[in-house]
Amino acid sequence: MPVLKPPPPPFSAAVNSCFSGGASAYDSNARLQSAIAARLERLCISQELRLPRGPRADLGAGSGLLSRALERGLGGEAFLRVDQCEALLRQDTQVPQLQWDLNDGLPPQLEGAACLASSFALQWLEHPPLQLQQWCSSLQQGGWLLLAVPTSGSFPLWSEAASHAGVPCTALELPDADPLIDRAQQQLEIHCLQRLRFSRPNPGGLAFLQQIKTLGAQASRGPQLTAGQLRRLLRCWPGTDQAILWNVLVLIGQKR
Ligand SMILES: C[S@@+](CC[C@H](N)C(=O)[O-])C[C@H]1O[C@@H](n2cnc3c(N)ncnc32)[C@H](O)[C@@H]1O
Repeated sequence: MPVLKPPPPPFSAAVNSCFSGGASAYDSNARLQSAIAARLERLCISQELRLPRGPRADLGAGSGLLSRALERGLGGEAFLRVDQCEALLRQDTQVPQLQWDLNDGLPPQLEGAACLASSFALQWLEHPPLQLQQWCSSLQQGGWLLLAVPTSGSFPLWSEAASHAGVPCTALELPDADPLIDRAQQQLEIHCLQRLRFSRPNPGGLAFLQQIKTLGAQASRGPQLTAGQLRRLLRCWPGTDQAILWNVLVLIGQKR
């Protein structure tokens, strides 16, 4: 009898397990995410954003970096932290929260939301443009979307090193910015659209991959590199004169 291999667990289960591993130290390691949360807070203040009454939520909230920033910037009610990772939600138990897999759509209590915010989470979901479209549909008229998401073209140095080494690039495939903008524009009046390019020092291949793992963001849709493939990748990793580059789309829009 042939031995049947069990099917691999869905990708979101792997993502959950990785983020659980990095949960206790997430806040101290998530420097780019903290900077983006602070940027969204400043944008809300400078645009004098006023939220209508109704549910407000942080989608893929993790430990609540963005929720806390927005609560400072906007005042009013707390954001519901929605995330599938219990270990990250547990970092702050004194706030409204819901453990939920966003690949199943939004929880019913967010229908007619006054504000849906999300930072560095959409890229982990299946079909990001479709998810974004559904998020926009769930907003009430006059409700706000506050979004930050890393997009394609990020860390070119990783894919180039992998290609020189002849090994698969195990970086998460990031969504293109344009289809996300298109979906948002179909339903929202866009008040702020920024395509940002962040540069971070390149600490070397091994240290970079370790940073990703410490954050819990190492889940990959492809198979793990073998020890030999990893050695080849690290030999081809460029020197510290080449920076780590991130493309991040920041979008603020109001439902028409
Ligand atoms: C890089 S963290 C960002 C957390 C937070 N938004 C921030 O800016 O610090 C990505 C978050 O997305 C969550 N996430 C990934 N896939 C998810 C899914 N299918 N459903 C709900 N949350 C998910 C992870 O658990 C994690 O908390």
